[in-house]
Amino acid sequence: MSTKDTLMHVVADHCDAAIDKVTVVGTGDVGMACAFSILAQGISSDVALIDMNENKLTGEKLDLQHGCLFLSARISAGADYAVTANSKVCIITAGVRQKEGESRLDLVQRNADVLKNIVPNLVKYSPDTILIVVTNPCDIMAWVTWKISGLPKNKVMASGTTLDSSRFRFFISEKLGVSPDSVHAWIIGEHGDSSVAVWSGVNVAGVRLKDINPKIGSDSDPENWKNIHKQVIQSAYEVIKLKGFTNWAIGLSTASIVKSILRNSNKVMPVSTCIKGVCGIENEVFLSLPCTVGRNGVTDIVELTLSEEERCYLKFSAARMMEIAAGVKL
Ligand code: 2OP
Repeated sequence: MSTKDTLMHVVADHCDAAIDKVTVVGTGDVGMACAFSILAQGISSDVALIDMNENKLTGEKLDLQHGCLFLSARISAGADYAVTANSKVCIITAGVRQKEGESRLDLVQRNADVLKNIVPNLVKYSPDTILIVVTNPCDIMAWVTWKISGLPKNKVMASGTTLDSSRFRFFISEKLGVSPDSVHAWIIGEHGDSSVAVWSGVNVAGVRLKDINPKIGSDSDPENWKNIHKQVIQSAYEVIKLKGFTNWAIGLSTASIVKSILRNSNKVMPVSTCIKGVCGIENEVFLSLPCTVGRNGVTDIVELTLSEEERCYLKFSAARMMEIAAGVKL
């Protein structure tokens, strides 16, 4: 008898069912920030990593496994998609990332080609999964993923402006001296340069800043709040210039989406989804609007009461996405 057999009197087989399994595709800085945010917050107890770079993959797996005492989680990894089987959520971070001076949109076809290999394999092993696309430009990549996957539209989303909204709330909170979660403010539209700041709805404790300062967000505002939106747009460029890439904030943003899915919280979050038929958008385009996010993915989209100007900006963002999506070879 082995030591184990002597120590343990077997009563029943272990349960290996995947209850809250999350796959992270890509073990670069963004993928690992997603995985670590999910694990450190106890959002999932079962994380699978997949990457083509087997040394990096194994290194990351071992490093996390050595910390499992503090995580209460199972970490698996492999270059074969079998390791992802039965995932409830798959996060796609693989692909090329922006270099200094490049915009997210410069990456379109290169990353669409990467997705063509990844998405069918994920769906093959986890046909009921929910896909969260983080790879940039994430709105277009979510549309590409949806087309390739054959999944219903509620099950494919991009992290979208969850991160932009977090940046927006942080900058406003700094100006007001309150916590970011006490600032209710939304960035919608494209995750990136044509994002739209919904100044008409920014409020603290239900008090709309626009009622106090009707010019807020406009060029004629003497307090120049509009600059905060410029800062939001510049944020990624600034961090990329300083450290070469962004990862922690996107990792935390994505983890918050996964949490709402796995806990079935129905939290309203600005994820990127197919917004045809909402807020005056008539095309099949993926952009961020406040969405209810739960076990069935995106189940509702909030019909925002936008100002005329904000509606125009959202339409501009949609037209830009349509134009770029039309050039993608699927
Ligand atoms: C970000 O906004 C680059 O999309 C990435 O941090």
